Amino acid sequence: MDKQQPPPANPQGTPTQPATPNANAGGAGTSATTSAPLDVLILAAGLGTRMHSRTAKVLHQLGGRPLIAHVCHTAAALVKEGRPVHIVVGHQAEEVKAAVEQELGAGGAIFITQTEQRGTGDAVMAARDALADANSTLLVLSGDVPLMHHETLGALVHQHRTHRGRGAACSVLTVKLEDPTGYGRIVRDTDGRFERIVEQRDATPEERQIKEINAGIYCFETRSLFGALARVQPANAQGEYYLTDVPAILRADGEDVSVFTHTDAREVSGINTRVELAEFERLLRLRTLRRLMLDSGVTIIDPAHTYVSAEAQIGHDTIIYPGVHIEGRTQIGEGCEIRSGTRISNSRIGSGVRVKDHSVIVDSDVADNCSVGPFAHLRMNAQLEEQSAVGNFVEVKKSRLGRKAKAMHLTYLGDADIGARTNIGAGTVTCNYDGVNKNPTVIAEDVKIGSDTMLVAPVTVGARSMTGAGSVVTRDVAPDTLVAGVPATVKKDLRAAAAAPTAGANAPERTEEETTKAVTSDG
Ligand code: UD1
Ligand code: CA
Repeated sequence: MDKQQPPPANPQGTPTQPATPNANAGGAGTSATTSAPLDVLILAAGLGTRMHSRTAKVLHQLGGRPLIAHVCHTAAALVKEGRPVHIVVGHQAEEVKAAVEQELGAGGAIFITQTEQRGTGDAVMAARDALADANSTLLVLSGDVPLMHHETLGALVHQHRTHRGRGAACSVLTVKLEDPTGYGRIVRDTDGRFERIVEQRDATPEERQIKEINAGIYCFETRSLFGALARVQPANAQGEYYLTDVPAILRADGEDVSVFTHTDAREVSGINTRVELAEFERLLRLRTLRRLMLDSGVTIIDPAHTYVSAEAQIGHDTIIYPGVHIEGRTQIGEGCEIRSGTRISNSRIGSGVRVKDHSVIVDSDVADNCSVGPFAHLRMNAQLEEQSAVGNFVEVKKSRLGRKAKAMHLTYLGDADIGARTNIGAGTVTCNYDGVNKNPTVIAEDVKIGSDTMLVAPVTVGARSMTGAGSVVTRDVAPDTLVAGVPATVKKDLRAAAAAPTAGANAPERTEEETTKAVTSDG
């Protein structure tokens, strides 16, 4: 908080707001001095030269989401519900807009195009038509500062609105850095009051010694902002219009500028290089893992080598082994075991599930007490019902495995619907693609598919039937039928065989051919 200019008791004598107001800082009544609503303006038009990338900086991913999405998420927590966030776009505007809409939904943002990137002041100026007449408090954020807590920004807005009992024209968020290189420095006067911001490239050697820096996060009274912004000149080393000149202009006009000194430098720092991006990735990851361990009761054997998205949910007593990646909005239940080398993305895993080493589960659903892997691949809405199992080198695409069904070895199941308790032998393939269309395979419950069966879709295998090893099934198989051969032909009616008086001890022996072909792998 601003040590030099402590806000006096508010004139109405009503209790001052807590330093951390509710999330809806723009809501009516959060300020003692102004009831103007809160607008947020995010600057995101720059390319980010220091990234050395063809991709605009704010589109680079942190924790699996673009930087701009993190900032939008924080901004949305601050504005009154239904009030759009303003975003200045320029470089790769269409892609940035798409990323914003993905986060805020259509209509959640108003986009302002800055055609030429002539500095942060010019970027804000681009929003003049959209904002200048708004009787609002404007919070200005950068699209490349992704880890801010909305509580911190809420406290900044609160200080801005209550400064000296009447509110400031501008409030600047600052932090002290051991190494302030590259940042704008906060120059204070002999009384310790804010004087101006000087950019690294324009600073004297003495000014470069200043460790207090401008985080690039500001609060303005919208109307006074645009009045001062019109007077900013590009008279600096970069020939740009600096937003950082505005506070000094306002101060020269006799307006109050307040300084909000934050203690957590990391939280409010921007990303300028890929080294910083990697560092932030680590921070975000450890923040998420700590929360999972402390609040959710998840065992993480080696946090240094575990990657869990901030949006994932994991139940207690689940154990995550080293080298696991859990991405997107994945949900994992209680008491699961997720072994090394596994990647789970945007999927739902029930409780008591064992995912063995090196499995990949994408956009899929695994119910309670299933077993997956090692080396299994589930994708495109694969659905494993309770207690089903897929094992070594099994790929399941857009298919359902019924309760207790199993496919344990070397199998491809695509566009298949597999009934309860059915066993799929090793090496089985659903031949689902005829070169033009994807065709379905339906295998009913209690079926035994022999090893190395090719199921040429579209095809249906009825309940309780069997296919011999190496069968190529080109036609539908009725229930209770054993088929074998290439292509598979009917060998016998299993029900009739079981009911025959000769069944049991006196049953005729199978021919050698039948015995080989009927062997299935039981997993
Ligand atoms: C800026 C501040 C600096 C501060 C630092 C904190 C200025 C002049 N300097 O420097 O005092 O310490 O942030 O991180 O403001 N942008 C546009 N259009 C433009 C230029 C920039 O939209 O024409 C956007 C960028 O996409 C970015 C943000 O504004 O999101 C900040 O721009 P950047 O170039 O990163 O400013 P810094 O040099 O970091
Ligand atoms: Ca920056």
